[in-house]
Amino acid sequence: MKAAAHELRLQLAAHPLAYPVVRVLGRLGPAVRVPGLGVVVNEAAAAREVLTDTETFRSGGGTEADLWTPVFGPSMLVNMDGPEHRAMRRKLAEFFTPAYVRQLVDAACTEPLARTAEALRAGRPVDVVRTTKIVAGAVTSALVGFTVTGSTAEREAAYLRMTGQATAIIGLVKLGKLSLSDRQIARARAIVAEIGATTSLAWEKGDETTAVGRMRSFGLTEDEARGLASAFLIAGTETITSLLPRMVAVLHDHGALAGVAAAYRDGDTRPMEAAIHETARLITPAPIILRNAVRSGRIGGVAVRAGDRVVLSTLNCARAHGRFDLARPHPPELRRLWFGAGPHFCLGYPLAMAEIHAILGTLAGPAALRITARRAAPGVLFPAYRRLEVSRA
Ligand code: HEM
Repeated sequence: MKAAAHELRLQLAAHPLAYPVVRVLGRLGPAVRVPGLGVVVNEAAAAREVLTDTETFRSGGGTEADLWTPVFGPSMLVNMDGPEHRAMRRKLAEFFTPAYVRQLVDAACTEPLARTAEALRAGRPVDVVRTTKIVAGAVTSALVGFTVTGSTAEREAAYLRMTGQATAIIGLVKLGKLSLSDRQIARARAIVAEIGATTSLAWEKGDETTAVGRMRSFGLTEDEARGLASAFLIAGTETITSLLPRMVAVLHDHGALAGVAAAYRDGDTRPMEAAIHETARLITPAPIILRNAVRSGRIGGVAVRAGDRVVLSTLNCARAHGRFDLARPHPPELRRLWFGAGPHFCLGYPLAMAEIHAILGTLAGPAALRITARRAAPGVLFPAYRRLEVSRA
């Protein structure tokens, strides 16, 4: 099966109806008004304009971000706008410095990735989805202030549980339904109660070597630290577990994995960089970003009125650039659009890149990797593999 067919299968397993509809809407122009849905934006330049014009387009007020407010409170960044959002981002400007990201990723990844490398060396298959979930769970545990101890198996189980909690919460959200029922809110609150208490405890201790202590030292209140920790849980686990295994599969299916890995082992990281950006473009794990218009304007030639919902189809924007091509640069309007743009640009971008580099670097061993089993995850918000098993050829 061709690379595009494997990706299509993941999209259809996740969104059997919405995916074909969104792709058809993408052919109707840079922006199109869809009754009952809002203004759908399919062009990178127009999407970027929306994301940077915060006077006209807001995150709060009926978007997916608001959905989380009853569960996690108002301080999650994604559900904030204007001066409050700017002030909190300013406090966090130096949060994910290169040195701190390296420290976080080293602490979280070294052990699980050493085991992955060892399994591959010994000729045993490795499930890239499981490995990614362990790494993402370890990083998220550190970020929310959760200290994990015990044997290797116990720690892995705790990391998988952390990732599973994010999956369970995000699993409550369905495309096209932008609120949670009282029952869903109660369920989500029950899932995160323990995490919130852990964050509060870490905030009280204020140990600056921990992520939550660091938040406090940057001037975050306890509520803001809890909000940010929950944003990390929601924004930083499912996205990576969607993206990373698919990156491996897309590179493998295009016959590009071995070349990228060989260059990387020889110390030339440029092909790996290009591979990461180009596969992320094709995959665009968060396929839509929502905004609300608070005053009238125009996007991509379509008039927008106050109260309109704006659906940025980052997937359509990214796919409009064409097929997989590691040699073709991304134009400025497209650059990293899958991580957002403007004031809400992904705060965890440096961390996501470091996690991706660490895992891909481990897989870039001397013998070529081949995919020995794969299965799509059905009914998920971020299209993903449920299992992607690789072995050394
Ligand atoms: C493949 C990985 C990831 C992708 C594709 C991704 C994508 C995005 C996108 C598209 C936004 C903008 C949302 C908007 O404008 O409404 C965003 C924001 C955010 N991301 Fe990421 N993200 C990833 C990983 C992470 C990680 C690892 C973390 C941290 C642990 C993180 C934390 C955040 C936070 C806190 C925000 C909110 C920023 C704000 O509203 O000011 N993300 N992300």
